Amino acid sequence: MSNQLMYALKTMFDPAWMVTGMVIAMVSIVLIDRASGSGPDDSADAAGLSSIGTAAAPSDPNWTLGSETCAKCHAGEVKVWQSTPHWRTFDELHRRPAAKEIAGKLGVSSIKHDGRCATCHYTQQTDVATGNVHAIAGVSCESCHGAAKNYLDVHHHYGGENVTRAMETPQHRAERLQTSIALGMRNPVNVYLVAQSCLRCHTTADEELVNVGGHPAGSLDFEFVSWSQGTIRHNFVRADGKQNEPSSIERLRLMFVSGMIAELEASLRATAKATQKATYGITSAQRTARAAKRIESVAQKIDSPILDELLKVFGSVQLKLNNETQLTKAAEITALLGYRFASETDPQTLVGLDAFIPPASRWK
Ligand code: HEC
Ligand code: HEC
Ligand code: HEC
Ligand code: HEC
Repeated sequence: MSNQLMYALKTMFDPAWMVTGMVIAMVSIVLIDRASGSGPDDSADAAGLSSIGTAAAPSDPNWTLGSETCAKCHAGEVKVWQSTPHWRTFDELHRRPAAKEIAGKLGVSSIKHDGRCATCHYTQQTDVATGNVHAIAGVSCESCHGAAKNYLDVHHHYGGENVTRAMETPQHRAERLQTSIALGMRNPVNVYLVAQSCLRCHTTADEELVNVGGHPAGSLDFEFVSWSQGTIRHNFVRADGKQNEPSSIERLRLMFVSGMIAELEASLRATAKATQKATYGITSAQRTARAAKRIESVAQKIDSPILDELLKVFGSVQLKLNNETQLTKAAEITALLGYRFASETDPQTLVGLDAFIPPASRWK
């Protein structure tokens, strides 16, 4: 893959690639064929509500309830969240000189009210009375788990008024989780869904923001296990509210690889938007090649047909400017494969990765 990396960097801006339309058209057809194969959840897709295989998006202001709604039942989670940079950014961002500088270069007059910054630094909600959209918090519950209006009632309903968590049947549980996902919940039962949320913001797919505004081109040292198990961890449900438990080693294995796949997806999407040979395009392409290289290294240590498939898709695209259609298509297939990887992989088959998973001493 180091060849692939050098190749990607060398060819990305080579004008020769700008005229290979035919090659690209052929690759696109192959990709479309694969994408239209039976997905992991056609019924949810048919309902038009599914998060499966779709890009993570900001919490839709019309369907956002706000963390006060969650606090009724998730007080511990809210308390943890209030000690994170995700919470603090609401009060701090617009005061920072660096933020004012970026906003100035982009002609953004109000950091808190301009949608430009809101998609990643704030949670927005529509005021029912006026129809106006307001920033109500920093990065909050629904930024990562999806706008909750549609899934709120379903996600905690165990199957009857007197049915408790312990009494819920496995079948009801499976249906409840699946329905919540179909209703737009980025439910951590599938770790890929939440990894996608992280990487949407931590990849920063906005060319002008980076090239003109001087905003960092994403969090280049992001790693899903170490960034999710430290300060932001809020795993109370699994411990019946008694403590905030780190994920088990089995789950960390899935998270480790899912984070890499989500990084590949998000950086493919970012590269797809690249139109200039400048910081944004170069960083996005390098990050995409790096993510693929990591997945290749994982695929050599374990046996996973899904990762093999993923690498084939990556091998068929060109990391170059103005290649939106092809790269976006590849990102969409990557998303479906990432979802499948997280739901279908037996963590026992990933034991060969344990030595590479960041230990607790490296959790952020
Ligand atoms: C009326 C109580 C209640 C409210 C309000 C509530 N939840 Fe929950 N939530 C629960 C319960 C109970 C569970 C545990 C479900 C289980 O056992 O799987 C849960 C589980 C979750 C999970 C873990 C995944 C799952 O389905 O088990 C997430 C994520 C979550 N809630 C997010 C939210 C968010 C975001 C809000 C606010 C928009 C919210 N919840 C509001 C009761 C609630
Ligand atoms: C696509 C997502 C995204 C958008 C849009 C976005 N940011 Fe950010 N921003 C981030 C992330 C993620 C970080 C944290 C980067 C890190 O430190 O890893 C960040 C960090 C910052 C920082 C701290 C930078 C530093 O050097 O420590 C400032 C200042 C900032 N953003 C300002 C803005 C302003 C102003 C806007 C709107 C004009 C904006 N951002 C829009 C995702 C975004
Ligand atoms: C809606 C956008 C958004 C989402 C989703 C998001 N983040 Fe962030 N994250 C940010 C921004 C913006 C900052 C920087 C905040 C600041 O400094 O003002 C940040 C900061 C962080 C930090 C602190 C980084 C440091 O250098 O101290 C960690 C850790 C982190 N995020 C982890 C995660 C993880 C893990 C996920 C997914 C589970 C995630 N984030 C999802 C926007 C987001
Ligand atoms: C930065 C992204 C992010 C934010 C913000 C966030 N979550 Fe989560 N949440 C996650 C991730 C990632 C997991 C899975 C972590 C793991 O398995 O180790 C998770 C897991 C959960 C769980 C399941 C815990 C368990 O024990 O299995 C619940 C419940 C939950 N979140 C509720 C909330 C609520 C309520 C809020 C707001 C106060 C919130 N989350 C904010 C990313 C986020």
